[in-house]
Amino acid sequence: MSTVATPRQALAADPSLRPVVSFHGVNKTYPNGTSALRGVDLAIYQKDFVFLVGASGAGKSSLIRLLIREESATNGRIFVDGQEVTRLPRRKLPRLRRKFGIVFQDFKLLPQLTVAQNVAFALQVTRPGIRHLKERVEETLWIVGLEEKLNKFPNQLSGGEQQRVAIARALVHRPMIFLADEPTGNLDPDTSWGIVQLLLQINHRGTTVIMATHNREIVDLVRKRVIAIEKGKVVRDEQEGQYLKEGEATL
Ligand SMILES: Nc1ncnc2c1ncn2[C@@H]1O[C@H](COP(=O)(O)OP(=O)(O)OP(=O)(O)O)[C@@H](O)[C@H]1O
Ligand SMILES: [Mg+2]
Repeated sequence: MSTVATPRQALAADPSLRPVVSFHGVNKTYPNGTSALRGVDLAIYQKDFVFLVGASGAGKSSLIRLLIREESATNGRIFVDGQEVTRLPRRKLPRLRRKFGIVFQDFKLLPQLTVAQNVAFALQVTRPGIRHLKERVEETLWIVGLEEKLNKFPNQLSGGEQQRVAIARALVHRPMIFLADEPTGNLDPDTSWGIVQLLLQINHRGTTVIMATHNREIVDLVRKRVIAIEKGKVVRDEQEGQYLKEGEATL
């Protein structure tokens, strides 16, 4: 018998070639009958930076909610880091969710805690008893450029700074995959650009980034992978893609 690996075996053996996220024929219909995702097939790799684009109601947030099992797929299979999310028992959900860092359009910071305390609190929840907590928090705030705002409260910060705190909080447990659902939705263009630069830097350090966005300028400037969703279906998936398909006037 030959000991030479077939291409398929070689692929399976090299973790950098294995998708970190995959969807196989995924459908999501909410209890009220709304069909949010239809037959979604996707593979996302560790080094990917993915823009999820599509009109309002296309299914971008639903896709993100299925990934972290905040919602369950109606049918189809979803894998994250080799684990089948769609079959995961409830008790294993915290471990699944620790693989992700998540930020949203609204920053969801705790107003009564300082910047450092907001970040530390998140780490204490996901990793109770973690050692070198202070150093981890400070290092993460340095990555997002907020090392001088450690002791400020959220209401003493600009919107862009608040989003950076949210990013630090999502990053502090060193997630494998960073999910950003419309992270620049409340920010002006310059500040939005700064946030995207930060996400690119996070991606450069080895974290997969999936960002749902309506921000055409950013998608067209960055030229990363673009997955377009229309009425729950993936209608376009391009490396170095653009916000709109050539010849398309609007989304
Ligand atoms: N909890 C829910 N129950 C019922 N229907 C829902 C629920 N959440 C979302 N939907 C519906 O599912 C579809 C997809 O919604 P989703 O929030 O995923 O879209 P989206 O692409 O994130 O839109 P946006 O750009 O506005 O954030 C929409 O028709 C929406 O009304
Ligand atoms: Mg959404």
